[in-house]
Amino acid sequence: MDDYDEVIDMLRITPGITVREADSRSSTNRYLERNPGLSFVATIDDYIVGCVMCGHDGRRGYLQHLVVKPENRGQGIGKALLTACIDSLQQVGIDKTHLFVFKSNSLANAFWESNGWILRDEVNIYSYNVSSNKNA
Ligand SMILES: CC(C)(COP(=O)(O)OP(=O)(O)OC[C@H]1O[C@@H](n2cnc3c(N)ncnc32)[C@H](O)[C@@H]1OP(=O)(O)O)[C@@H](O)C(=O)NCCC(=O)NCCS
Repeated sequence: MDDYDEVIDMLRITPGITVREADSRSSTNRYLERNPGLSFVATIDDYIVGCVMCGHDGRRGYLQHLVVKPENRGQGIGKALLTACIDSLQQVGIDKTHLFVFKSNSLANAFWESNGWILRDEVNIYSYNVSSNKNA
């Protein structure tokens, strides 16, 4: 949580990433407490240049908000963050992980496919929102 402000500022200015109410300070604190040791930041000279959030439901892993600052891309930082998540999930017994990407985020879709992630075109995602907040 010490890194929250720096990370959320980075997420907000990254095209393709949508920050929602679920990314509020209290929700993020709850997420990190439920998923200890599974989310990471990458730093250079104490400045955050990348982040990833990761968790699991006891059955499958879920990965979100993998971001590297534009000026630091193409140096293996994204891959290192991703590997840290997958390795940590495997250590707690989770072998398979899902993630959600906007179809319009062509950069991210190309990244996942080139890193061996399988596009699941046989699955539909359904969501249900009990809140009146459309950005929950
Ligand atoms: C996606 C992102 C995190 C990649 O970070 P990065 O640090 O540049 O990635 P890396 O340098 O670690 O690249 C790892 C590998 O992916 C490949 N790769 C990187 N970006 C790629 C792209 N846009 N398309 C295809 N392959 C890509 C690299 O060539 C590298 O391959 P290699 O291991 O064979 O050398 C970064 O571009 C980003 O922050 N994008 C915006 C945020 C976003 O959309 N995130 C995804 C949300 S789900």
